[in-house]
Amino acid sequence: MIIAIDGPAASGKGTLGKRLAAHYHFRHLDTGVIYRAVAKALLDARVDLADEAAAVAAAMELDPEKFGDPVLKTQAVGDAASVVSAYPRVRAALVTFQRQFAAEPPGAVLDGRDIGTVICPDADVKIFVIAAPEVRARRRTLEAKARGEAADEALVLADIVRRDDRDKNRAVAPLRPAPDAHLLDNSHLDIEGGVRAAIAIVEAVRAGRQRV
Ligand code: C5P
Repeated sequence: MIIAIDGPAASGKGTLGKRLAAHYHFRHLDTGVIYRAVAKALLDARVDLADEAAAVAAAMELDPEKFGDPVLKTQAVGDAASVVSAYPRVRAALVTFQRQFAAEPPGAVLDGRDIGTVICPDADVKIFVIAAPEVRARRRTLEAKARGEAADEALVLADIVRRDDRDKNRAVAPLRPAPDAHLLDNSHLDIEGGVRAAIAIVEAVRAGRQRV
């Protein structure tokens, strides 16, 4: 079984993906980390983010062993990731890795922006997670502070709005729900509530129902 979870930045899709994967004993891939790793390779090498060829080369040399680097989670890397992820050839270079991950047994949960629309259009369950930008900014600020980073909520909100705009309006694989995705608005849910809602969606689909 393949579960696709898409949604905007800081929607909680990553935590949901991880928790759903644990619940079903599936493997989990946070695909944002892939784009973040490409961006970090450019930042480390002090290469201009506008250098598409360098971004493509970094995507082709990706090392999944480095996906656990905590620096990948920072806002600066996330912002750079949203720039390099708009390059069609960067996205194309990363498709096979994601599809192979999805296809391996016993099942997989992938979260990102285009899993249900591009990477795994035949996923068994598609969930599109949304939350109000202000709620996402509050959560991301608290997370940054918990990591010991300085974070100004107004700036975080501006970053989220800018990144949403870039992700939604890019020409390739824009952020949008697949027609058969189940919307999950977690603006007013805590983590446990979101996990319960997602499991309910998966179970409803498994039970053969169309909608919940
Ligand atoms: O989800 P996360 O904030 O880690 O993603 C970082 C950036 O990577 C996003 O803003 C988006 O531009 C890009 N991304 C993408 N497709 C994915 C996952 C992430 O374009 N499947």
